[in-house]
Amino acid sequence: MVYHPPEPFRIKMVEPIKLLDRDAREAAIRRSGYNLFGLRSEEIFIDLFTDSGTSAMSQAQWSAMFEGDEAYAGASSYFRLAEVIEDIFGFTYFLPTHQGRAAENILSTCLVKSGQYVPSNMHFDTTYANIRSRGGHPTNLIIDEAHHPALYHPFKGNMDIQKLRDFIKKVGPEQIPFGMITVTNNAGGGQPVSLENLRAVSETYKEFGIPFFIDACRFAENAYFIKLREPGYADKSPLEISREMFALADGMTISAKKDGIVNIGGFIAMNDEIVFEQARNELLVREGFPTYGGLAGRDLDAMAVGFREVLQEEYLAYRLGQTAYLAERLQELGIPIVEPPGAHAVYVDAGKLLPHIPHKQFPGQSLSVELYLEGGIRTVEIGSLGFAHPDPDTGQMVYSQLELVRLALPRRVYTQSHLDYVAETFAKTAARCDRIPGYQILYAPQLMRQFTAQLEPILLDTYPSIKSSEISVIPV
Ligand code: F0G
Repeated sequence: MVYHPPEPFRIKMVEPIKLLDRDAREAAIRRSGYNLFGLRSEEIFIDLFTDSGTSAMSQAQWSAMFEGDEAYAGASSYFRLAEVIEDIFGFTYFLPTHQGRAAENILSTCLVKSGQYVPSNMHFDTTYANIRSRGGHPTNLIIDEAHHPALYHPFKGNMDIQKLRDFIKKVGPEQIPFGMITVTNNAGGGQPVSLENLRAVSETYKEFGIPFFIDACRFAENAYFIKLREPGYADKSPLEISREMFALADGMTISAKKDGIVNIGGFIAMNDEIVFEQARNELLVREGFPTYGGLAGRDLDAMAVGFREVLQEEYLAYRLGQTAYLAERLQELGIPIVEPPGAHAVYVDAGKLLPHIPHKQFPGQSLSVELYLEGGIRTVEIGSLGFAHPDPDTGQMVYSQLELVRLALPRRVYTQSHLDYVAETFAKTAARCDRIPGYQILYAPQLMRQFTAQLEPILLDTYPSIKSSEISVIPV
């Protein structure tokens, strides 16, 4: 039994939330074409869509914002952030960006040439898209255990070192402008990477002369998993573990909207002076002057404080405890989840919960819609709606191996009773899961279709209150 420490904060400012009645929820989801991206925030009771940019800032962060220096160049906010970044991450150079994908864009633009490969454990979809948009091939080399949701592994985000070596030898190190690893591995269930694995990845890249960049969005959560699970780290602080992680790399990209506990922000950092000069020129064209990136001075100050707060042990114990609590409540109800739960989210195996819905009818989307209808909860499908794609050779649709629904927990936002409510909503939904319909697409663009797709339920006889004629369809 995992210990769940109470929130290490009390609440001084509140934001009201309201549960609309069932009729209003039905009208809202119909209007959205059964796509939860189309809902308005005030139509949602508990929003577990993402942990990105949705966290609550502390009083220390809000007061730091008042000290923000908005000078165009050389703002003191920049130097305060630089001090924190140097202390935690230790790279020689850094550039602020407005969020993570801007840092990825700069990195890919500077280094990726058409036809080259970028290996990682698993690329997040923005990293994937940024490498692709420069003509590169993002390649996932995660350990096989990661593909089995019910299997326990303490570091299911680890990279397979043998696969990595074979891959480098196959394509040639000169075809790999840099290698990556994502901590924690969001696309694979928020799973951590061990320091032992990071060391082996670093040594392998070094052996072949390949620069190593960490996608560090959830670095503090990863560090705390190392403290809890990796032999030899129990007495080290999350800060010491983080320093050890980053000392292995040549650079990093990060969205501070996660473990920076801010609503907007990110940065790219590296040791190589030549790459830094290129990156700085890119930043000037796309984001802004190097001492503010795409941000206001006050945003840099909020980040500087956030990176310190996220490494506090009481905070991390509460954070991992909260996710474990939700996971346990769902498991008590027999809801299949990806095990063990990560820190930022619980991933429910919708494919297993709704075996009567085939991949092509999107079981993850079905469950997400149902949770909204049942209790006003917004979650996100991570399955075939987002990731199915036509095979380049045969043209046949390749569906996702796993049909998941992610319940992401914004930092310091919801209490344990909110999570109890989520579990109760699951209990009611699961009780009638054999009557939940699959979905078909009425409209979808070719790329990133989950954001704007319009759908309709297929088994209309089990769903008498919904008529497909009432769905609003965006013209193609
Ligand atoms: N890398 C990882 C591992 C991420 O999870 C994200 C964002 C990014 C990069 C991109 O950062 O959004 O600031 O541009 N993940 C969010 C999510 C969107 O909901 O998981 P960004």
